[in-house]
Amino acid sequence: MYGGGFIPDENPKKQTEAVAEDPALLAEFQARIDRGEKIEPHDWMPAMYRKQLIRMIEQHAHSEIIGALPEGTWITRAPGFRRKMALIAKVQDEIGHGHLLYTAAETLGKPREQMINDLLSGKSKYSNVFNYPAVTWADVTVIGFLIDAAAIVNQLANSKGSYGPYCRALERICAEEAFHLKQGHDAFVYLATGTPQQHEMLQAAVNRWYKPIIHFFGPSDKESVHSEQLMRWKVKMASNDDMRNQFLDMYVPKVREVGIDFPDPNLKKDPETGKWNFSDPDWDEFYEVIKGNGPCNAERLAVRKWAEEKGRWVRQALATPYTKSTVPLA
Ligand code: COA
Repeated sequence: MYGGGFIPDENPKKQTEAVAEDPALLAEFQARIDRGEKIEPHDWMPAMYRKQLIRMIEQHAHSEIIGALPEGTWITRAPGFRRKMALIAKVQDEIGHGHLLYTAAETLGKPREQMINDLLSGKSKYSNVFNYPAVTWADVTVIGFLIDAAAIVNQLANSKGSYGPYCRALERICAEEAFHLKQGHDAFVYLATGTPQQHEMLQAAVNRWYKPIIHFFGPSDKESVHSEQLMRWKVKMASNDDMRNQFLDMYVPKVREVGIDFPDPNLKKDPETGKWNFSDPDWDEFYEVIKGNGPCNAERLAVRKWAEEKGRWVRQALATPYTKSTVPLA
């Protein structure tokens, strides 16, 4: 059932290392990928393909769940009824995306409970950007516009990839993210073209988020550990640098047209190569954040642990079969 010798409940690393894979099966698998076929859960797949997909989809699912926290803290303070309603809906959508992605990862054999445990113990990573605080309403606006835009660049590319369940989850997520982007853009333009104080507040938030956004696409192609193999398997459909460049191509003009700018004098497009140049975005900070030492890592995990604990009775109630004796009649 599980190709590549993987036994779901055991340590994937050990399993992968223990398995010597049949060269004929490997060649046929790569040929399927090269022909653009989708790989489905019960198809044979190399153990490392399975392991890498679990890593990536699981990290993505955690990012959706943790990503709801900085925006969630602003629901009660969002300015006005319309913004509150939009934010509530967006936060609900993000949690839904997390569930879709956990389900996609489960098709590869890792139980959801184990994924949640790995998040809470700090073993699994999630996106760097959600370890920064949303200090003002303008920070929420930058998340809603630019972080969602960055996520769409990544997700749209990878939705054309090779693993069926992940691609189908991403297609659905992108459709909802397109709405998020519209509300984020609307809120961004509103502040940018509002009073001088609103404009200033937005510029200050963009200044805070610029580096985390540059980091979001991952280390440069030279430093990326997994890109080469993931692109050969069409799990990743663009390299980190290409996705970053595509984002800058699309969103630097949109930010500048409303009189806001990214705080980097070296952010310029080279007309010959078509590539954006930028100052060193302090990759040491990125590695510290993804190791768990960012400004909000401890707080984010503490909130998730609290929610896990407080929600235990709901999960237990759902798992308990109904009998007359469990629900006493009045
Ligand atoms: N946040 C946290 N960790 C990151 C990261 C980010 N923005 N970008 C890279 N990393 C981590 C990688 O997970 C990897 O660590 P690991 O080996 O311990 O897992 C390390 O940095 C080296 O990066 P790289 O080799 O480039 O990883 P990658 O090929 O998996 O590419 C992504 C990184 C984020 C582009 C890729 O995993 C991806 O597209 N993921 C799915 C989308 C997603 O998770 N989006 C986030 C929320 S919307």
